[in-house]
Order: sequence, then C-alpha cells, then structure tokens
Amino acid sequence: MDKCAFFVPVFVFLLPLLSYAFSRKRKRHEQKTKLPPGSMGWPCIGETLRLYSQDPNVFFSTRHTRYGEIFKTHILGCPCVMLASPDAARFVLVTQAHLFKPTYPKSKEILIGPSALFFHQGEYHMRLRKLVQGSMYPESLRKLVTGIEALTVSALSSRADGRVINTYNEMKRLSFEVGILAVFGYLEPHYKEELKKNYIIVDRGYNSFPTNLPGTPYRKAMKARKRLSEILVNITRERKEKKLLEKDLLSCLLNSKDDNGEILSEEQIADNIIGVLFAAQDTTASAMTWIIKYLYDSPKLLEAVKAEQKVIYESNGNGKSPLTWYQTRNMPFSYKVILESLRMASIISFTFREAVTDVEYKGCLIPKGWKVMPLFRNIHHNPEFFADPQKFDPTRFEGAPKPNTFMPFGSGVHACPGNELAKLEMLILVHHLTSQFRYELVGSESGIQYGPFPVPLHGLPASFWKEE
Ligand code: HEM
Repeated sequence: MDKCAFFVPVFVFLLPLLSYAFSRKRKRHEQKTKLPPGSMGWPCIGETLRLYSQDPNVFFSTRHTRYGEIFKTHILGCPCVMLASPDAARFVLVTQAHLFKPTYPKSKEILIGPSALFFHQGEYHMRLRKLVQGSMYPESLRKLVTGIEALTVSALSSRADGRVINTYNEMKRLSFEVGILAVFGYLEPHYKEELKKNYIIVDRGYNSFPTNLPGTPYRKAMKARKRLSEILVNITRERKEKKLLEKDLLSCLLNSKDDNGEILSEEQIADNIIGVLFAAQDTTASAMTWIIKYLYDSPKLLEAVKAEQKVIYESNGNGKSPLTWYQTRNMPFSYKVILESLRMASIISFTFREAVTDVEYKGCLIPKGWKVMPLFRNIHHNPEFFADPQKFDPTRFEGAPKPNTFMPFGSGVHACPGNELAKLEMLILVHHLTSQFRYELVGSESGIQYGPFPVPLHGLPASFWKEE
C-alpha cells in the first residue's frame, strides 16, 4: 500500500485531536499565567482620557500603588503592561530584551527617518549603535570641551542683560548647537543655518496631529524633512571628497563597512544623523532647565556649587584659560547635583516596547503584540530605593544607588549612547552659569508642562546677568 494512502486518513483523524490537545494546553497556560491586574477602561478609548486629564505621573503612580509593580491598562489605542520595579525593567530591557522590540508611532518614524537606529533590533541596530558610541568615546568628547564651552558662554552672555527669557527655548538652542558640533565637527555657517531652519519646522510638526492636509504643521514638517535630507546629502558628498580623518559621527558613519564590505547609504546616514539630533536636543535641554530651577530653589546648594566652580574658574585665570577635560571630570559636587536633577526630573519617565511573543513574567502573561512600558520615574521616586524621594538631595549620590534603580539613560541594548556627552554639556553649563552669572526666576507659578518631556511651566521664565 502507498504510504500516503495510510498516513493521510490517520493524519485527518488525528488533526482535530491534536488541535484540541494544543488548545487545551494553551488555555491551561493562559489560566496558569493570568493577565496582570489593572483596568482596561472603556471600550476602544481605554484609559486614554484619564491619562490626558491628569498629570501622567499621578496616573501611573496611583495605579502602581493600587495594583503593585506590574499592571495592565489600555491607552492611545493599545493594550499595555506597565512595569514599575527594577527587576521588571531589567527583564524587559536587558535579560529578555530580544522578546521586546522598540515601538514608535508610524508618523514619528516617517519624520525622523525609518533607518534611524532606535527603530531597529538585531544586527543593523548593533552596527549603528557601535558607530554612535564610537563617536562618543572619551577621546572624541575630550576634543569637544572647548567647542561646547564657547557655545555655552555665547548662549549665556547673549541673554545676560536682565530681560526675561524662556530658559527651555534657550537651552534647546544650545543643545542643538552642541548636537551639530558632535555630529559634524566644524560645519560651514550656511549649512548650519539651513539645517536649523528646517529642523525647527520638523520639530514643530513632530508632536502635532499627523495629518497630511495642506497647511498643517505635520505636512510642513514632512516637506522640511525632505529638505533636511537634501542638505545632509550635500554635506556628506562634500565630506567624502575632502577625505577628512575626523572622529565625529558623520565620519564614523561614512567610514563604516559591514562584514560584506557594504557601506551605509546616503539615506541611512541622513536618518541616523537626524535621529541623533532629535534624541539629543529636547532631553538635554529639559535636563539643563531643571538643573537651573533646582539650584535656584535651593540657595544653599547653589552656594556649594558656586564654591566648587569658582575654584576652577580662578585656577583658569578667571576664565582666561579654557576649561579642560580633566577639570570637567573633577567637579564632584556639581556632578551629584546633575545626577539628582536627572532622578528628580526623570525626563524620560518611561519607554515603550512591544512583546514579540507571549511572555511570562512572575506568573503574569504579557500577550504578544501588547505594549510594555518600564516606568523609570516610578522607580526613581520609590522611597524603597530613594529615601524621601521628593526632596532634592544630591548627597544621596555619595554612595552608588541599588542596582537597576537609577536609569535616567535607560538600560540594556538601547541605553543612551549620548549620556557622557549630555553630562559633559550639563557640567560645562553649571561651571559657567555659577561662576560668572546670576539669575532670577520670574513669576510665582510653578508646575510642569509636557512637550513631551517634562519641563518647568512656561519653559522657566528667568532673567540672567553677568556678575561684575
Ligand atoms: C539628559 C539627556 C538625555 C537623556 C535623559 C537621554 C535618555 C535616553 C534614554 C532613556 C534612552 C533609552 C530609550 C529606550 O530605551 O527606549 C536613550 C536612547 C538614545 N539616546 Fe539619549 N538621552 C539624553 C541625551 C542624548 C544625547 C546628547 C544623545 C546624542 C548622542 C542621545 C542619543 C540617544 C540615542 C541615539 C538613543 C537610542 C539608542 C538605541 O536605540 O540604541 N541621547 N536616551
């Protein structure tokens, strides 16, 4: 008898039995591993309105208190699992990172450029990540100190006439300039102006409603993004012709070859440059704005920082010699102020991943396709890890925090490759601000606005003066 003639009827008979057995097994698995506690809110809209009608930190922390370290919700059209413990964050970001992919709204991916590293996992992501990290090694950052210092002094001096300014906007201008410096090294002024002009339009559209209707900020941003690509292609081609041996990001991207000797395309280079500029600007600007606020609110701490910085300033002949890399590595109290500002403000309050398969964590099921959000801010503000968490106290960083409890720059395969550059910018700002300037915050209103990162209300209106 033909083998098939025997096996086919047996298979046809067994198939329903097998599928029944498998479905029972899956059901048993689902029963054993239940969804985490929490509310999915109303049909379709879930808890989105609740999230938007209150401070997002209150939204997350009330649920954290009610349900514990892992809970479910439904926001922005997606079922989500929130994770508010160091172990859970480590599980998603480090030990089981391959089970969770980065996820961003399509509209944002289109504006930044789909080849930017943070939209990817695996080999391409690792290759690009190494290139960005390579351009941020100490030997590269060391060369940026004088340039960052010049940009910082110019930013502070140009506003030090007592008029009221929006501090966040000024910090955004500064962090953009520093981003350009880190990516291109020296860049001809006409290119810089063109990049700035179009980048501002993309930035405005980034958080607007993503519709392609004529006249909308999103449509304008798409057009400006196209122009940015054209400018970047011109800069890249010129750089190739000059064959410069620089260590900035553009050179690292241009000189990279994969295992098969393939170079990166012009589009991949442009997407990653814009991605890095985006990742660098608002985050660092927000952190610097918070540092200015926290220091103003704590006159004793401001005095202690001033004392540390004045010694350095005077040893440089009252600013006649430039700040050195070594000096930026030796500002222990100011450094702790920066760490505490990053903890208090928790600029990236949480991040998003998506489960690529059903995952079990401590008896809870995280179903495939659900969003997963490690809540950095909840961990940074948990009294179990940081005593009296609402108090601004830099001395808490005299000892190292418990493992996985302090993640202002994330953790694992997508952790921030720009963290040393960001800290360098903040230290240089603190040095010049406190050794040569004084400032006053304007207005009595205090609070936080989200754009989308937390920023003091109205961008922290303030007046600055140069000290005589
Ligand atoms: C205070 C300033 C900054 C903060 C708080 C910050 C925070 C973070 C965090 C939390 C992540 C991880 C996000 C995730 O896991 O989903 C991240 C990723 C990233 N950051 Fe930063 N960042 C800052 C400044 C910078 C700067 C100056 C650069 C410029 C080089 C930069 C470039 C990046 C890039 C390229 C990624 C994606 C890394 C990857 O996917 O592998 N960031 N940042």
